[in-house]
Amino acid sequence: MAQRILSGVQSSGRLHLGNYYGAIREFVRLQDQGEALYFIANYHALNTVRDGTLARQLTLETAVAYLALGLDPTKATLFRQSDIIELGELYWILGTVIPMTNLERATSYRDKIENGQSADFGLFAYPVLMAADILIYDSDVVPVGRDQRQHLEFARDWATKFNVQYVEKYDPKDPLGEKSKRPGLFKLPQAFTRDETAVVPGRDGQKMSKSYGNTIDLFAPDKEVEKQIKSVKTDSTPPEQPKPVDNQPLYQLLKVVLPPAAFADADKAWRTGGDPKTNGYGYFKNLLLEAYQQEFGPARKRYAELMNDQAEVERILKAGAEKARGYAAPVIQRVRQAVGL
Ligand code: ADP
Ligand code: TRP
Repeated sequence: MAQRILSGVQSSGRLHLGNYYGAIREFVRLQDQGEALYFIANYHALNTVRDGTLARQLTLETAVAYLALGLDPTKATLFRQSDIIELGELYWILGTVIPMTNLERATSYRDKIENGQSADFGLFAYPVLMAADILIYDSDVVPVGRDQRQHLEFARDWATKFNVQYVEKYDPKDPLGEKSKRPGLFKLPQAFTRDETAVVPGRDGQKMSKSYGNTIDLFAPDKEVEKQIKSVKTDSTPPEQPKPVDNQPLYQLLKVVLPPAAFADADKAWRTGGDPKTNGYGYFKNLLLEAYQQEFGPARKRYAELMNDQAEVERILKAGAEKARGYAAPVIQRVRQAVGL
């Protein structure tokens, strides 16, 4: 049977190169390898977006971005998290077996609090909703960035805990019940992270992130993107001299965005130095801008077209939600039965 692949993206801001190379590109590849479900995590986004009009706009933009970047609704199912009404019920039921101590040690929560986000229940309970997102569709594989792997471990642990609690003679060593004939109520999901997926650096050299204000955006207006690329931090090595490659966001961005053959040429010029026209940082920034335009030009065009056809986007999201709810229905039914509702 085809593997069921599931992942979600928060609609909490404009998408950037880090999101593309760290997540979206992989989602698009995987749609050919199994039964893929991707959703816009617009409930999760409410933890940071506290303006209804903006939240709605970002949900739309995120959906359109995915479609523009190659998600094909005839292959993958795309939907809004908030359209799955069964999710809230599973979120609650699951929460009844989750130790507080697990949530207290969640690194995402601690990081966010450290970065000044307020310690609200929604943020604290975020991994519970994420586990419900995963378990409700009987997902097999969950492609996620490294920062999300702990959430996947939680989802597996809690699914096991629930299975042990509610399935008589359930054997955690035999989760499918091949020997015991007592399969779990929940399937145990696998995280999937490709080792070679690089962390994309931002303009200042830290990890690219909307919370650091150091992004190169995927769908910002041309002028803004140009400004972002021109502002990538460089050092003061003159064009004639070989340039250092470590901790140089411009070098790393060229490596990520340029096609391999073009990068090999750029790499040579970078390391040798020479003529300012072909060996200075200004030249390399232009190279990055051109490669960006080549790589994302068609997606940006498609994005603008879809933004002008929101009825079509809505149709795709509604059809996706209906399909996803079809997967969720038997799971929630099993759960209700087991817990006595
Ligand atoms: P942000 O840090 O901008 O808030 P998110 O946390 O919403 O981004 O990330 C969404 C997805 O994109 C995650 O799967 C994450 O791993 C991936 N991602 C985000 N930034 C990067 C980056 N700089 N490099 C690689 N992957 C990234
Ligand atoms: N927490 C994920 C992120 O910030 C988004 C997400 C929500 C998700 N629910 C999920 C990812 C379920 C995978 C599976 O990137």
